Amino acid sequence: MPGDKSISHRALILNAIAEGEARVSNLCPGADVASTARCLRELGVEILPADAEGDVRVLGVGLDGLREPAQILDAGNSGTSVRLLSGLLAGQPFLSIITGDDSLRSRPMGRIVQPLRLMGCEIRGRRGDTLPPLVIRGGSLKGIDYSLPVASAQLKSALLLAGLFADGPTVVREPSPSRDHTERMLRAQGVELWTDDGAITLVPGHGLASVDVRVPGDISSAAFWLVAAAIHPDAEVVVRGVGVNPGRTGVLEALSAMGADLEVIPAGEQGGEPVADLVARSSRLRGIDVGGDLVPRLIDEIPVLAVAAAFAQGETRFRDAAELRFKETDRLRALATELGRLGVVVEEMPDGMVVRGGGGLRGARCLSYGDHRMAMAMAVAGLAAPGETVVDDPQAAEISYPGFWRDLQRVSGMDWR
Ligand code: S3P
Repeated sequence: MPGDKSISHRALILNAIAEGEARVSNLCPGADVASTARCLRELGVEILPADAEGDVRVLGVGLDGLREPAQILDAGNSGTSVRLLSGLLAGQPFLSIITGDDSLRSRPMGRIVQPLRLMGCEIRGRRGDTLPPLVIRGGSLKGIDYSLPVASAQLKSALLLAGLFADGPTVVREPSPSRDHTERMLRAQGVELWTDDGAITLVPGHGLASVDVRVPGDISSAAFWLVAAAIHPDAEVVVRGVGVNPGRTGVLEALSAMGADLEVIPAGEQGGEPVADLVARSSRLRGIDVGGDLVPRLIDEIPVLAVAAAFAQGETRFRDAAELRFKETDRLRALATELGRLGVVVEEMPDGMVVRGGGGLRGARCLSYGDHRMAMAMAVAGLAAPGETVVDDPQAAEISYPGFWRDLQRVSGMDWR
């Protein structure tokens, strides 16, 4: 699998402000991580392109070493880049402007603007300071104690990054646990940070040590093959070296609850994260309820889980997932529409959807809305649906998984154009 996208962003950002040089292997080759690298270069960080072994080197500039960017920072399609970097920029004594593509410029930023202002940062955005571009004049931050309105690792990480530059401790309280890659990496870099009963406390005061990171395979990318195997009548797929951080393994729990024939073989630790080999086989799936604390732990896998649900017996109900409306596209609307084209009955709700499974899909022409996970989920549905499925804008997969179409061919033995 390509390297985990979330861990890759953090390996670049946190090593950029560390003391010394770090080596990052299996960095996610997708466009989103390239957006983070491009922005960091504009801020004066040297990131050496992959060497013969495929390793990238980051030459850390320390906490005070970033320089004012000479132009507007472009985060492309990447919500993680714009949110994490805004937290970082909030602590810098200079002016930055950060923006992105059409999709990113319609994604909610009020959730970071409000707490960063409470910390003392001057930050403005379009549409009443809720949309990018964001204009940030940072510096002189104070620590805050903040309860997140939504379980969001991007928001949590933005505040922890700003907290590194504050004059006192920052406490971030989560309504339910989200991925903790930032916390793990910061601790590995020597930052005083602890988690207690849903509250994360970061005490600033000294520099970060650089850390070499071997990025585990991305479970969000692996999920496409797990579902592909489960819905296929005669398949076994093995995916090796996948990151199984408990904040990310909701997809394994949901598939197991659906009756998927799934094996998780622990394979040690990599980059401070647990890793496993995953095996999935043809399965008779049944519908389940997905909601509550499970949702942040499988948020990016709901498109492909909805495909699994379409092939399951009975109904699968997704609730507490209103956040899906604020991803690369409104994924609830997009899934209802595109699965509908394949003949699946999906009832959309404000915070989720009900997928009625087992109804016999047929190939169709599907839109991806320029959303990488929609494109890949529709391709997996097309693998198992009789007839031809056409996915428009297949390049969207490049955001997180540039080798997806090649791997699809390898896994399926099918021809594609
Ligand atoms: C991410 C967190 C999630 C996820 C996104 C990556 C991260 O977003 O959907 O793809 O790397 O922190 P939210 O934390 O905003 O839900």
